[in-house]
Amino acid sequence: MSDFIRPSVKTSIPGDKSRSIVEQDNLYGITATKVFPVAIKKGKGIVLEDEDGNIFYDFTSGVGVCNTGHCHPHVVEAIKNQTEKLMHFAGTDYYYMAQSRLMERLSKKAPGTNKKRVFFTNSGTESVEAAIKLARYKTKRPQFLAFIGAFHGRTMGALSLTASRAVHKEGFQPTMPGVEHVPYAYCYRCPYNLEYPSCNMECLHKIESFYLKKVLSPYDVAAFFVEPVQGEGGYIVPPKEFLPGIKALCEKYGILYVSDEIQAGFGRTGTFFACENWNIVPDIICSAKGMGSGLPIGCMIADEELNYPHPGCHSNTFGGNPVCCESSSATMDVIENENLLENAKKLGNHMHQGLLDIQKKHPMIGDVRGIGLMQAIEIVKDPKTKEIDPDSRDRICEEMLHMGMITIDCGPSSIRFIPPLIIKKEEMDIALEIIEKAVANVEKH
Ligand SMILES: Cc1ncc(COP(=O)(O)O)c(C=O)c1O
Repeated sequence: MSDFIRPSVKTSIPGDKSRSIVEQDNLYGITATKVFPVAIKKGKGIVLEDEDGNIFYDFTSGVGVCNTGHCHPHVVEAIKNQTEKLMHFAGTDYYYMAQSRLMERLSKKAPGTNKKRVFFTNSGTESVEAAIKLARYKTKRPQFLAFIGAFHGRTMGALSLTASRAVHKEGFQPTMPGVEHVPYAYCYRCPYNLEYPSCNMECLHKIESFYLKKVLSPYDVAAFFVEPVQGEGGYIVPPKEFLPGIKALCEKYGILYVSDEIQAGFGRTGTFFACENWNIVPDIICSAKGMGSGLPIGCMIADEELNYPHPGCHSNTFGGNPVCCESSSATMDVIENENLLENAKKLGNHMHQGLLDIQKKHPMIGDVRGIGLMQAIEIVKDPKTKEIDPDSRDRICEEMLHMGMITIDCGPSSIRFIPPLIIKKEEMDIALEIIEKAVANVEKH
């Protein structure tokens, strides 16, 4: 049996030491999206310790970032080594090895036989902005397609593609013009009230037969932005025909297929890039979050044919920062050397089955869905009416927190489970026990 630590919460939350940090933050930080009043002091693997000595399992991976676990020794060593040599030298303007070798590695890792080009960014939203600009530049087309429920980021271009919660846009309109949203394949709540597979993929066909006939012309569309698994929108995994169908549609009309792998990529779903699950070769891949195991790095990977014709079209200052690049190369080493894709598949299936077993006993879990270590449950008032129950969802998250498991919501009524990909079976079993207890406690009251 391997070594592992159990979660243990001994103080109220927040404990005294955490409380003062939380109060300071609440006083001076601009209001953002805080989830729980816990101040974390350190992390190792899947374990986080707060300022008061409470031990938690991190089932968020720092919201999809620490796929190799917190402070993986190989990643830490790579960062330390690079920090002593060179911390910055404007990677878009000059050359250094940390950047060029990561470019080559990512370009060769991306699916498809065509050569790829890499542009480094500092965040997911910046990767999406880079893709918006490149798509407009190369196709000379003005419009974009994205899905209802999508989350692509919060800067004005990316925000215009986002359609997961109205609050993201409220007060910020107008966003970038030229974006149309179409329904995603959310089978648990089918937008057309049909059932898979007898639906014959109505949601896919309607995009062409309705939206591209009535709402906008396909010949005006530069790119279709697609999350292979809708993340913030509720961890929605489409049926197997959906994404290949969207890709075929894009090819038919010369629309670029952009796979937003910012949350689902870097091993999370059991393949390196999530699009590989459906054998899709995107024109552009956007990545970030899990790329650097915690250091801020993202990228846009584009087909060679899409390369800019001359310097100056697009650039930035911090993209390809040498320390972040080394962190990302080390992250790729760990994914390869520790068979994390295999572990994501194996423990993802184990978790999925565990959640289905819990669902059988607790009808407030309306749906269990996910792929690899990107799993979620949707909480409902009644499994027949499927009425959403965000209050119970929030209480379940609160219960889990008090039992030592940090999670985060998604969609109107769901909870996502995205532990680091290094998680062990014993740790997963403890987490499943906590989930079941939390659901049972909320169900009782
Ligand atoms: C699919 C997806 N795209 C884009 C983003 C934006 O990334 P960032 O917060 O790094 O700007 C996110 C963040 O949650 C995301 O999940």
